[in-house]
Amino acid sequence: MQKVKKAVIPAAGLGTRVLPASKAMPKEMLPIVDKPAIQYIVEEAVRAGITDILIITNRGKGLIEDHFDRAPELEDRLLQGGKQSAYKESVAIANLANICYIRQKETRGLGHAVACAKAFVGDEPFAILYGDDVILGEDPACGQLIRAYEATGKGVVGVNAVPESDIHRYCSLKVEPLRDNWYTCTDMIEKPQRKEDIFSLFSILGRCVMPPEIFDILEHTAPGANHEIQLTDAMAELARRDGVVAVDFIGTRYDMGNKLGIMQAQIEVALQHPEIGEAFRKYLKEIAKSL
Ligand code: UTP
Repeated sequence: MQKVKKAVIPAAGLGTRVLPASKAMPKEMLPIVDKPAIQYIVEEAVRAGITDILIITNRGKGLIEDHFDRAPELEDRLLQGGKQSAYKESVAIANLANICYIRQKETRGLGHAVACAKAFVGDEPFAILYGDDVILGEDPACGQLIRAYEATGKGVVGVNAVPESDIHRYCSLKVEPLRDNWYTCTDMIEKPQRKEDIFSLFSILGRCVMPPEIFDILEHTAPGANHEIQLTDAMAELARRDGVVAVDFIGTRYDMGNKLGIMQAQIEVALQHPEIGEAFRKYLKEIAKSL
């Protein structure tokens, strides 16, 4: 089985749910305490063995490129000031992986964004990590999916169960148990609006590993929900044709595409943070008394 070494991070959305924060700043650059969301995502991919990453950007997302680049003036200043560890951290961010960029020229949906990666991916399986879904955990979620791909040779999607009241905002998967936390998925629907369209409460949350055949499917995928070219519609065709594996991944997922998700990420990560964790816990306990 071909090893999964490449990953695509779509980060060209408009982020309308987190306005005005995302008006001039990419939502993927919103920090969780002291690191932008997209850095957590790149680090997850690297921990899973990914060496080459394509980030899909668009106008106004230059900050992402700057973040993963060297910053000579800053680095000189840090060295002169004896701030060795901050210096090393800054250099390490630029050396995390072989990162390149391509622009999605029109915001036509996640499926359209992924289709922009065709030349980069070539004839290999590849991981997709949505740029606004941060998943934290000891075993990188992306790695859990890669293991399933390498064991089965099938496309793999990372799923968790979502509350019934929310499923109409996500996609819903038709699944049967395969083994442990793996399921066989034979169909899926994006944003089911009617109760009878819901297959299950399992939904794809920001991670997939796809075979290169997905590009042929995307080429003829018509716009779907929200008039956008939906990656789910292309993956549904793959699922109906060949079956895909759904992995109920272990990890805590934060949706950085909505305001509540951003605040949950801030609080939970701040509580664990080596520098401010203890002080923040004290502060939070104090403030909770008045709630
Ligand atoms: P979302 O649907 O959450 O992105 O896509 P969005 O369009 O920015 O969100 P709202 O609804 O306007 O707030 C998930 C991921 O796919 C990327 C986004 O950047 C995000 O990381 N995406 C989405 C693209 O790269 N291109 C697109 O056309 C749409």
